[in-house]
Amino acid sequence: MGGLETGSGVNGLKRQLVESSHHQKKPLFHIWFKFLLLLCLVLFGLGYTLSSSSVSMWQTFPLYEHYYRIFNWTSKVNAPPSYYVHPKHRVKQNEIHENMQPLSILPTVAPSGTQYHQGYPRNYHFIMDNPEVCKTNTPFLVLMVPVAPNNREARDAIRQTWGKDTVVQGEVVLTLFMLGLPGGADAGQQKEKLNQENLEHHDLIQSDFMDTYLNLTIKTMVIMDWLATRCPTAAYAMKIDSDMFLNIDNLVTMLQKPGIPKLNYLTGMLMWNRPVVRTKSSKWYVSEELYPDPTYPTYTLGMGYVFSNDLPEKFVQVSKSIKPFNIEDAYIGMCMKKLGLAPTSPPNPSQFKAYNTKYNRCEYSKVITYILGSSQELIKYWTDLKKPEPPC
Ligand SMILES: *[C@@H]1O[C@H](CO)[C@@H](O)[C@H](O)[C@H]1NC(C)=O
Ligand SMILES: *[C@@H]1O[C@H](CO)[C@@H](O)[C@H](O)[C@H]1NC(C)=O
Repeated sequence: MGGLETGSGVNGLKRQLVESSHHQKKPLFHIWFKFLLLLCLVLFGLGYTLSSSSVSMWQTFPLYEHYYRIFNWTSKVNAPPSYYVHPKHRVKQNEIHENMQPLSILPTVAPSGTQYHQGYPRNYHFIMDNPEVCKTNTPFLVLMVPVAPNNREARDAIRQTWGKDTVVQGEVVLTLFMLGLPGGADAGQQKEKLNQENLEHHDLIQSDFMDTYLNLTIKTMVIMDWLATRCPTAAYAMKIDSDMFLNIDNLVTMLQKPGIPKLNYLTGMLMWNRPVVRTKSSKWYVSEELYPDPTYPTYTLGMGYVFSNDLPEKFVQVSKSIKPFNIEDAYIGMCMKKLGLAPTSPPNPSQFKAYNTKYNRCEYSKVITYILGSSQELIKYWTDLKKPEPPC
């Protein structure tokens, strides 16, 4: 057939060309071929390792956090929903405790009328609570920063930057750090250091639960308990992570706007209809037993959310009847739903930003939040932002 003839003719020509070039560059061709074959094998192996759910391998890369924020926050195609749902729910190396165990294996029936006691903060006890800090000066805004006990570097950076001023835009602002119990062999030594640090700054709140990644919901609920019992007169509070940039002036200005509700107000970066992660290997995995619905109620991303200070007591009360799961921000969303409330979009939603690629002074002068890579970055950007020249 004509087609076949043509085909073989073309093939013949190709073969000739291949053969002649092969003949001429035999050694070079061999090296390249071997190299390509090796490259293919390496890529295949890497792809296989990653796809076979070995997330932990990625975590050993120092740039892991940055990259997953870029790839998985933006791409909804390849990633399981979790990766762009919760850029903040990553495990920090220093927060992993040896006996990491899912909350589901803890007892769920509690004494004294509490149905789900492990999420109910009043089952834990304050070791340090600085109750006087709110009494001397009624704050307009309290910034509550959950941080690992050993992460003094992050606390010091915050104390030098957005946590430094006690009066912002004419309002009293208080910054406090929330810690659980340190794990590890040097726990006793750490305890002494923390006491010393608190004597110096009077800004540590510590409770007696194990400070682990899977206990972040407890940490958040203990924050709520502290606000409800030690600082009920404050107008607003914010839960903000320790690796954040916070433009505190813009936040206070936002809260001073006349339309901002004084009650039942929760705002931040809103997450709608986020699917619950059912991939067992994911760190955002939540079992159907713990949380049966396929999606979370509307919630505010955990990096930083702001609320009127009537809500903490309501969260504490309602947490008695909500089974805890380890996704603290979605858990707060659940509390809101159970209270018949919903988060509100901020006046300017683009001020709550998660990932940033590059520091830009003008940009940082307009936003409220950004996730940063390190405490050094925070100090560097803050110092630059505070220079006297106009930022834009
Ligand atoms: C993005 O998500 C995929 C989803 O499986 C994961 O395998 C990958 O490690 C993530 N990317 C990064 C850079 O972490
Ligand atoms: C959470 O804290 C409780 C109370 O300290 C502890 O018993 C439990 O082991 C912790 N859970 C995890 C998963 O770390």
